[in-house]
Amino acid sequence: MSGPSTYEPKTGFTRWLDSRLPIVRLGWDSFVDFPTPRNLNYWWTFGGVLAIFLMIQIVTGIVLAMHYVPHVDHAFESVQRIRRDVPFGWLLQSLHANGASFFFIAVYIHMFRGLYYGSYKAPRELLWILGVVIYLLMMATGFLGYTLPWGQMSFWGATVITNLFGAIPVVGEALREWLWGGFSVGGATLNRFFSLHYLLPFVIAGVVGLHIWALHVPGNGNPTGIEVKTKKDTLPFHPYYTVKDGFAILVFLTVFLAFAFFMPNVLGHADNFIPADSLVTPSHIVPEWYYLPFYAILRAITFDIGPIDARLGGVLAMFGSIGILFVLPWLDTSPIRSMRYRPIARWFFLIFVAACLALGWCGAKNPDDIIIAMGTDAEGHATGFTVLTFAQILTAYYFAYFLVILPVLGFTERPKPRPASIEASVLGDNAAQPAQ
Ligand code: HEM
Repeated sequence: MSGPSTYEPKTGFTRWLDSRLPIVRLGWDSFVDFPTPRNLNYWWTFGGVLAIFLMIQIVTGIVLAMHYVPHVDHAFESVQRIRRDVPFGWLLQSLHANGASFFFIAVYIHMFRGLYYGSYKAPRELLWILGVVIYLLMMATGFLGYTLPWGQMSFWGATVITNLFGAIPVVGEALREWLWGGFSVGGATLNRFFSLHYLLPFVIAGVVGLHIWALHVPGNGNPTGIEVKTKKDTLPFHPYYTVKDGFAILVFLTVFLAFAFFMPNVLGHADNFIPADSLVTPSHIVPEWYYLPFYAILRAITFDIGPIDARLGGVLAMFGSIGILFVLPWLDTSPIRSMRYRPIARWFFLIFVAACLALGWCGAKNPDDIIIAMGTDAEGHATGFTVLTFAQILTAYYFAYFLVILPVLGFTERPKPRPASIEASVLGDNAAQPAQ
């Protein structure tokens, strides 16, 4: 779709380079003259935001690693030293810790954009799948990184999550010890977690390269879900989208910096200011906010399902809730991409977003907490509608959305009329008139 190259080297040097390594041509055709649908809205700016955040995390992380000590006796105090004594260490540490949160905010917006506008549908299935791989790598990187400050939540979060692998039949125990590098979370674990936490962002950067490559073959989708038909449907990426993306990036960075400078610990957990202690379990172990919906799904399975016991069931449900995204392009049977023209699916989508947020809320709560009190039992304990029951209903909806609602609606829903082309959707009746 990008068509023949429009790059013309102008100087002797660029002609020389172009005939040997056409890297400037690649950059020009991909990010300057790349034909981009003219109707992209601000939801399409988050890919650029994500690229910036990946860079921020890598740069701040590399400098932090120069001062961090991955040893159980020194890790906690080395982070405190970075925050107090290393010149601008407080800034680096705050940018990196809050950067992780904002990276996840951006990725969730990017993913829900994809779900709403059907960006995962043919011919962009592989682009979507590469995105899910990136998301999994981000989850792993965030988890490994949270262990490094070696506070109470670091230690116990790592213990809870690595123990999940113990639920896998036959190989589970061995796998868990292999991850730990011993018989519990300890020095060997911290060391390998640090090593992998340093490695994975570069793997992410590599997969992002493939992601952008897979994007540039079919070209961007757009809010109408109608493919580009003529040149009039597009604008060159530069200056139109460099300016629009640049503006969105500045606004997003402003909010991010407000947190990094003025509320650096709001998104963290107070218990992580207490050094890790394997003999004192915190009363309430919670993961970072961006894992909470999946934590709620994990805890929602409290019953055996046939031969699968509740513990393994929870682990399978949690991994399944992300795994299902890999097959989404084939679960959604509708020929219409954008929910703009899907009056019923759109409502189910909005409920899905609400369900994900509510699952996150459940993940932060104690499952036995009562939301609606309904009296007391024989022993005088309060009874009612609990966080657990709520999380179970939401989990059922989460899976039903992918396995029942999207497959069935594709056949039964009558879509709204769509514009004839991208150009017509932007210019309306003026589309047919010659430009003045
Ligand atoms: C580091 C993480 C990521 C980076 C840097 C990144 C980058 C980008 C960029 C630059 C674009 C084009 C602009 C845009 O549509 O916003 C894009 C498009 C896209 N991304 Fe990502 N992405 C990331 C993660 C993800 C994830 C986690 C998913 C899904 C699970 C995903 C799915 C998609 C899809 C489906 C498109 C095509 C949208 C369309 O044009 O209709 N991406 N990505």
